[in-house]
Amino acid sequence: MTDTVDDVLETVAAVAPDVRDGLPGRRLTEAGVENPSGETVTAADVHADELFFEALGAIDGVVEYASEEREAVADVGDGEDGVAIAIDPLDGSSNLASNNAMGTIVGVADDSLPAAGEDLVAAAYVLYGPITTMTVAQEGTVTTYVLDGGETRAVEEDVELPDDPVVYGFGGRVPDWPDAFHDYAREIETELKLRYGGAMVGDVNQVLSYGGVFAYPALESAPNGKLRLQFEGAPIAKIIEAAGGASSDGEQSLLSVEPTELHQRVPVHVGNEEYIDRLEAALAD
Ligand code: AHG
Repeated sequence: MTDTVDDVLETVAAVAPDVRDGLPGRRLTEAGVENPSGETVTAADVHADELFFEALGAIDGVVEYASEEREAVADVGDGEDGVAIAIDPLDGSSNLASNNAMGTIVGVADDSLPAAGEDLVAAAYVLYGPITTMTVAQEGTVTTYVLDGGETRAVEEDVELPDDPVVYGFGGRVPDWPDAFHDYAREIETELKLRYGGAMVGDVNQVLSYGGVFAYPALESAPNGKLRLQFEGAPIAKIIEAAGGASSDGEQSLLSVEPTELHQRVPVHVGNEEYIDRLEAALAD
């Protein structure tokens, strides 16, 4: 299986530059459809999904492919055993219009989808920033690579959240936050600097780089928040926990949340353990 997982990660690294190269021509172009979560799909989302589907679905040992942009899990194996891939091909694609950061998020599971975070054998995100980087959690450690000119170069091994947290970023409108989260946020604002860019990968990478906490919490209008467990919450939690941090849906690690459907949403909180412990205590009051 390790060979297949390595093949998957190498393929993501190989395809990501093509996804990036496809962005300029698709700026401001909507695909004219909604994804299974009811959000407008851009042409860039569709293009990224097609590129990853073709490349990852062709790998021997990959048996399922599910994407935030597709209703159902696609069977791509020949009935053999293998790994399943859950991907958000272009996370934060609404940032394309304003030319801000975006990402790709990938989870590799050794179980059928939807799979719990605990069943992920690897997870990775690509950040399309000034530099294209890929951060991978595999076998309990986190490595960051630079993807440049067709090469994948490790630039940081054993990545860990810094002990001295600096930044926070919370999604959702403040009046829509439940009171307990509102009170927690007021405290955090006095301790950390705001960094919020509207793409989870960019915001989480700030937390991984500087320490702190990212959240897209439960909202009054949306008790499960905005982000998807399978495509966003679980793989990002796998990376942050492997880097020595913590994750929570408000009560438990995101890796422990049992999936009930492919596109289910979940409140997401990730970061240094101290901030996640305080979050859970605040929500329990
Ligand atoms: P999408 O992939 O559909 O563009 O959604 C992006 C997600 C996530 O990346 C980000 O944290 C969040 O939506 C931002 O939402 P707001 O615009 O509500 O801040």
